[in-house]
Amino acid sequence: MKKLLFGVFALATLTACNTTTDSTENIADLGNAKASRKYCPSEEIRTELLKNDASAKARYAALEAGTEKFIQARKAGRVLADGTIEIPVVFNVLYRTTAENISDARLAEQIDVLNKDFGATNSDINKIPSEFSTVAAGDTKIKFRLVKTVRKSTTVRSWKTNDAMKKSSSKGIDATDPKQYFNIWVVGNMSSILGYATFPESAGLWNDGVVLAAPFVGVTGASAPYNLGRTATHEVGHYLNLRHIWGDATCGNDFVADTPTQTGSNGGSPTYPLYNTCGGVQRSVMFMNYMDYVYDSAMFMFSAGQRDRMQAIVAAGGVRAGLRNL
Ligand code: ARG
Ligand code: ZN
Ligand code: CA
Repeated sequence: MKKLLFGVFALATLTACNTTTDSTENIADLGNAKASRKYCPSEEIRTELLKNDASAKARYAALEAGTEKFIQARKAGRVLADGTIEIPVVFNVLYRTTAENISDARLAEQIDVLNKDFGATNSDINKIPSEFSTVAAGDTKIKFRLVKTVRKSTTVRSWKTNDAMKKSSSKGIDATDPKQYFNIWVVGNMSSILGYATFPESAGLWNDGVVLAAPFVGVTGASAPYNLGRTATHEVGHYLNLRHIWGDATCGNDFVADTPTQTGSNGGSPTYPLYNTCGGVQRSVMFMNYMDYVYDSAMFMFSAGQRDRMQAIVAAGGVRAGLRNL
């Protein structure tokens, strides 16, 4: 509150500042202003600083550019008033059969699932055990908006996880500027793999994004038991820096404090409660987390710690902050 009051006071003082340009006038004005107690030298002091300090000048230019970008992002609706960021999504669909050519309606349905899961408005959210409801993420303030769909027919039956689908030179589709757009490739199939993602260290690279096998995209016509669009939720979790909840090792670390350490991955529809012992400590397992391997109907939450890791990536200064720019 004190800080806020001070801020308001400082702003009022600043608004009252005289903004003179000529230095002789300044000196004359200084006398007057001092007398009237409304002379503010901040801008003149800055001008001196920028004249003498090249690195300060560079920081000044960068901060003004950053401010302008933010304003443009606001205008474009990518940063909402409550701080929610809306990630622009490009779907790149590679199809051999008509069934693989996922309809616009089904792609829209997938975006809808992402918005519900990341906004904690998914219809099964009430299934979170009360033990975990205190650490549930709530609204992550990360949203998704479909901005473009690229489709390409192919003779390729099965794709590997070698990123071939991401290059036109290897029968794929080149990404739309991955620094500013979240690219999702949909391919016919990758044998037993439902999808895969790049982590944020790949931010902006040619292969950055998520790949989904067509049968697991969206809901209508999708393939049970992975037919609630949650392969995308899981892969987007990786894209935004979430690791598997078991830390990809026996009693591994996912760098999230509020997800209990568990011995390994879980599949199917486990029965709650499920206990694991790691390092001699027995814990109730959060197998209903999107970052485990359970069926789509068995996963319905991110934790608050996971939300914070994801927000760090898209926040101003985060490695995927470019997704908010134009
Ligand atoms: N990359 C994981 C796989 O291919 C995705 C698991 C998604 N889980 C799910 N219930 N949809 O197995
Ligand atoms: Zn995964
Ligand atoms: Ca953890």
